[in-house]
Amino acid sequence: MNDRRPGKPIYLDNHATTRVDPRVLEAMLPFFSDLYGNAASAGHAFGWAAADAVAQARSQIAASLGVESRDVIFTSGATESNNLALKGVARGAGSKVRTHLVTVASEHRAVLDPIRQLGREGHAVTVLPCDEYGGIDPSRVAEAIRDDTLLVSIMAANNEVGTLNDVDAIGAICLSRGVVFHTDAAQAVGKIPLPELAQHVDLLSLTAHKFHGPKGVGALYVNRSRQPFRIQPLVDGGGHERRLRSGTLPVPLVVGMGVALDLAVRERPGESARVLELRERLCAGLCERIPAVRVNGHPLRRLPGNLNLSFRDVDGGALLMSLRDVAVSSGSACSSAEPEPSHVLTAMGLDEETARASLRFGISRFTTAEEIDFAVEAVTAAVQGLRQHSIAWKSGVTNDLT
Ligand SMILES: Cc1ncc(COP(=O)(O)O)c(C=O)c1O
Repeated sequence: MNDRRPGKPIYLDNHATTRVDPRVLEAMLPFFSDLYGNAASAGHAFGWAAADAVAQARSQIAASLGVESRDVIFTSGATESNNLALKGVARGAGSKVRTHLVTVASEHRAVLDPIRQLGREGHAVTVLPCDEYGGIDPSRVAEAIRDDTLLVSIMAANNEVGTLNDVDAIGAICLSRGVVFHTDAAQAVGKIPLPELAQHVDLLSLTAHKFHGPKGVGALYVNRSRQPFRIQPLVDGGGHERRLRSGTLPVPLVVGMGVALDLAVRERPGESARVLELRERLCAGLCERIPAVRVNGHPLRRLPGNLNLSFRDVDGGALLMSLRDVAVSSGSACSSAEPEPSHVLTAMGLDEETARASLRFGISRFTTAEEIDFAVEAVTAAVQGLRQHSIAWKSGVTNDLT
């Protein structure tokens, strides 16, 4: 699947989003044209065909996750799933005794922001510091749980540095303390084997566009078998999705999500070994050619397709600008005029300058060895070029990164 043309950049930003697999697109297409029924139209064949397709997608997703179909609630993506889990449980808790929420500083904004909002609404909130790899030791979570703790939210895999958390252990701790456990598994689903979810988590968020499915569809796994909790819906009207998420389902997207997850899980053993090999090729190529590089994230417990590197004495913005042919993401969020350094990298202890001088590479099913070799050359040339103009680099006075 290599269609590199002059002027067409190679794509190594697969944590941001992934290319829709052609097999997924093919499965979706009929639901945009001939099979356009509303899955909630119970009175005619168009509706039945749509409802059947949704049921099949739901069971593909449930089988891929190893859970019950009825516990899969479709949403618009992981941001909505996280909001539904966090605000839904916080607002749905009948008890006024348990109001405390626990999370970690390295979480995605789609967890941190709803939790901050709940803090403004009167919930007590603990945001734990992460470790130097962007993860959290389960013992730290256990220490943070109080008598009034309602919910803990800890991601399965970090979206910037790929570090994996011990979801099994955290889930067991939460269960033993009667605390609801939510995990944002947007980056983990389809990429790494997950623990037996019915035993280990109460709520899990996923999104199709991270595993070669379409954008705009995701799911929340709501485990009804582990411990009791209530969710207050965010959206009322019609009572779709077991009354948790009203609104007409986007049938083509739902179909695409089912096929995409089925493919990701079936092909994962071979794919993750191939992707890991490409990651190691990229890492070795860059670290051999470029001095003073730091690899961010856990050395072992990390997503196979993730590589996050910091380059000493390089201006992060200039680095990204000079990498015209390689689509990667920088260690700064460009959501404002003045780019902020990544909150994940700074929470891991990197100073702001080093965080900005970082690149996140994400390798996928469609990445080739030729593209990796191209990226090695392009990044090496960009870093060397910038260091030629760096006074700090030439004077050799800054701290050692390695
Ligand atoms: C860990 C994590 N959570 C949540 C999201 C948001 O997902 P979505 O784009 O489906 O809303 C992302 C995607 O950037 C992510 O990486």
